Amino acid sequence: MKKWIVGGIFLVALIGLGTWAAIVMTPPSPKICGTPGGPPITAQRIKLRDGRHLAYEEHGVSRQNATFKIVFIHAFATFRRDTVIANRIMTPGFLEKNGIYVVSYDRPGYGESDPHSSRNEKTLAYDVEQLADQLQLGSKFYVVGYSMGGQAVWGVLKYIPYRLAGATMLCPVVNSWWPSFPDSLTWELWNKQSKTERFSMLLNHYTPWLVYWWNTQKIFKQSAVMQSSPTLFSAQDMALLPKLAARVAYKNQTTQQGNHESLDRDLIVGFGKWGFDPMRIENPFPKGEGSVHLWQGDDDRLVPIQLQRIIPQKLSWIKYHEIPGAGHLFPMADGIAETVLKELLPIPQAS
Ligand SMILES: *[C@@H]1O[C@H](CO)[C@@H](O)[C@H](O)[C@H]1NC(C)=O
Repeated sequence: MKKWIVGGIFLVALIGLGTWAAIVMTPPSPKICGTPGGPPITAQRIKLRDGRHLAYEEHGVSRQNATFKIVFIHAFATFRRDTVIANRIMTPGFLEKNGIYVVSYDRPGYGESDPHSSRNEKTLAYDVEQLADQLQLGSKFYVVGYSMGGQAVWGVLKYIPYRLAGATMLCPVVNSWWPSFPDSLTWELWNKQSKTERFSMLLNHYTPWLVYWWNTQKIFKQSAVMQSSPTLFSAQDMALLPKLAARVAYKNQTTQQGNHESLDRDLIVGFGKWGFDPMRIENPFPKGEGSVHLWQGDDDRLVPIQLQRIIPQKLSWIKYHEIPGAGHLFPMADGIAETVLKELLPIPQAS
């Protein structure tokens, strides 16, 4: 009789605990744009083959009149309106004077693009291709990706290199699990990380189904990126923060569909197990018909420069530009976007 009672209590406790765990681990459904109760659709959008929509915003000259067509891929916790190659950041008229067209789009789950729970570095590449095709950008186009947008640029370099006219990565996020990084170095950097950062990374990589719980729990400290901790900003970054002031007007739209399909998904893809090793990608321009650039500040507090420097060592076809004193926000500094575009595009010397 007693055993039966103890067993019963145990079972009820177990069911209770299981239910609680299921509740805290399960992300709420995203608030899809244009559905009842969801955010409104305000942007121009294309419909992908699988039925998802991608929202986009255009800058510079019209695509019909453009000499250079660029797809811009935004960073973590930002969206299509945060392009760093737009007049808001650059010398007004630079794009127009040089015949440059830029389309910036919301990666899935951000802004007004539908979430994609199975997105990865491959699907992101084909999203870019479908966007380019629906906008009729032609057989070849340029891509520029910033920070977490690097996951899509690597995907494009791997899966659709024949569509590229050129590519630029601005302090792209690196993944310690990429096989070509020397183990000794990744361990050395790993051992310098706080327990919180290490634990977050392990969850992102091995147990993505726990990432929602981890990023919403209040018991333990959150990782620095999820807190937008000031420790991530260098002195130069701090000085550039006022350039982000205009975001106040629209930044709520960034993750309006929910954090899980935007932020969490970025971490899961960025630090997950990849279908390829970026450092084994072949030169997309063996005849020098285009170029691939990687820009990195040497005072970046978010992306470890020691790992970034390995990439151009392994891929001799990448043109590596290291900027002394620059942090993670350097693309916003005066003149940088212009310099970046002049390196990427064969702009006639006169201009
Ligand atoms: C293209 O350029 C021409 C000449 O400057 C201009 O008249 C025309 O409106 C432009 N087309 C578009 C779609 O912007």
